[in-house]
Amino acid sequence: MKDIFFCPEESNFYSNCLENFVFRNCKNSDFIVEFGSGDGSPIINSLLKNNFDVVIQGFELNTSAWKAANLTIDEYDLNQKYTIHNACLFKSSKPKADYLIANPPYLPAPDPDIYMPLLFGGKDGATVTNELLLLNYENVLVLLSSFSNPTSTINLAKKNGYCVHNFMILPLKFGYYSSEPKVKNYIEELRTKKIAFYSRDYYFLAGVLFKKRQKSAIDLSNELAQVMTSL
Ligand SMILES: C[S@@+](CC[C@H](N)C(=O)[O-])C[C@H]1O[C@@H](n2cnc3c(N)ncnc32)[C@H](O)[C@@H]1O
Repeated sequence: MKDIFFCPEESNFYSNCLENFVFRNCKNSDFIVEFGSGDGSPIINSLLKNNFDVVIQGFELNTSAWKAANLTIDEYDLNQKYTIHNACLFKSSKPKADYLIANPPYLPAPDPDIYMPLLFGGKDGATVTNELLLLNYENVLVLLSSFSNPTSTINLAKKNGYCVHNFMILPLKFGYYSSEPKVKNYIEELRTKKIAFYSRDYYFLAGVLFKKRQKSAIDLSNELAQVMTSL
């Protein structure tokens, strides 16, 4: 299991955001694409608790995680609702979907040589998240971290026609991956440049639903930016 992402607090929060902002509002087998499924537990747990009418196609590059996810999907007979490809979404022919969802890699570091290289989010931590918002899906649910240049993501989303439709926040203690000295020291540097925001051992993780802007739609971008830069 050592090489599979493991942070139950974060995965449960992702699950909770999905249930409240995506799954509950889906109808008629709405189609969902997921970037970075990990061991699949966030979605599998939601599907086992509720009978959501959704079809999810996941993409996971880590072969051990992909195998673990498929074993559990088979065990609970969820193949009709959840399938995962051992591939990168950016390199695939992008499936059409109503929603793109992700708890993306968001660790800032000088380079990808960290405990788990697939959690590298580019030098500022926001690179993968920002690339996801450039894929132009109508609705995008992503987790954003306050130490991963959150304002760049909020600004990029706005520029690309998204509004922040809803969000929820989890204060989270630096964990195994973000406490790695190479990562933590780098985050400290980013803090002096006002790119990373955290307080002692805590940072904010936000579950954010971006929607392509429609006339008179509510936009909580300013409120989200205010919270994420408040630490
Ligand atoms: C933060 S973990 C989230 C895992 C799971 N969704 C969860 O919340 O428990 C991010 C996942 O993205 C995967 N990943 C990173 N880059 C990827 C890529 N280009 N394509 C597909 N998966 C990727 C990593 O292997 C990792 O499993």
